[in-house]
Amino acid sequence: MSEEQPVEERPPDAHARGTALERFTGEYPIVIEGLCNQFGEQVVHDDLSLEVRRGEILGVVGGSGSGKSVLMRSIIGLQRPAAGHIEVLGHSITDAQPDEAIGVRNRWGVLFQGGALFSTLTVGENVEVPVKQFYPEISGELLHEIARYKVRLSGLPEEATSKYPAELSGGMRKRAGLARALAIDPELLFLDEPTAGLDPIGAAAFDRLLRELTDTLDLTVFLITHDLDTLHEICDRVAVIAEKTVIAVGTIPELLESDHSWIQEYFNGPRGRTAMAAQRRRKPMDMGEGPRA
Ligand SMILES: Nc1ncnc2c1ncn2[C@@H]1O[C@H](COP(=O)(O)OP(=O)(O)OP(=O)(O)O)[C@@H](O)[C@H]1O
Ligand SMILES: [Mg+2]
Repeated sequence: MSEEQPVEERPPDAHARGTALERFTGEYPIVIEGLCNQFGEQVVHDDLSLEVRRGEILGVVGGSGSGKSVLMRSIIGLQRPAAGHIEVLGHSITDAQPDEAIGVRNRWGVLFQGGALFSTLTVGENVEVPVKQFYPEISGELLHEIARYKVRLSGLPEEATSKYPAELSGGMRKRAGLARALAIDPELLFLDEPTAGLDPIGAAAFDRLLRELTDTLDLTVFLITHDLDTLHEICDRVAVIAEKTVIAVGTIPELLESDHSWIQEYFNGPRGRTAMAAQRRRKPMDMGEGPRA
């Protein structure tokens, strides 16, 4: 009689990923409470609270210098806040030392503002950097295969893998940055102005790709953007940062009900109305339900 095979206890998802065995199943993968950030005398955040829902693309807007990038850096543990508590995927970020292994750093991907890639490395090598960092045991052909796969996943031709950043267009560099952010199969994606500087067609294509990846890879996305079309097209909800805190969070129709002057000026100003009208033309049936409700 043949020996009975042991029952595979790992969930199929973890098996397929071959990396993180744990996957967050709670409602809010990011919870921020009473966050305060200060540089010298300058208070950037004062008692800021925000919850990000699992599976959503949360757009984050606010004037230049309002503290969007600092907020993102706080969430990923690069900026130690003066006060407040941040939990990511059920782990406290604020109670951990900045360089402490907190068991979640290998579960998010980041595209920083400006999206700097290492200029002396090819696109493929750039994508390999976080994989090597978190999974040093992976080497050789498998590493290259992962990089080639992420490059294709980000909508770049496979040939781009062996190109240097300087050999790519701006739009291709953004996609390469996305490929690097996706390198370690993250559950969370942090993107700071990913479509800044792209032409409208390039930006729209990036948006579509991001929405598709979010849905198929079951991601939660914290997306800082100034792009009104992006907010209308792909964000489930939008958080507005002003007056050192999150003054409102909701779908755009919900935000439009606010009488806050910044919100009205932003979404109901000439550019906001144009973006809204464009979205109405594309999706006449969706109105009243939010951009992706
Ligand atoms: N490391 C730092 N040291 C001192 N001040 C800082 C630091 N990082 C950010 N600041 C200040 O904090 C404020 C918020 O900066 P932040 O980069 O978060 O703005 P932002 O909302 O991302 O703006 P933008 O839309 O222009 O990118 C700014 O006044 C900035 O000068
Ligand atoms: Mg910024």
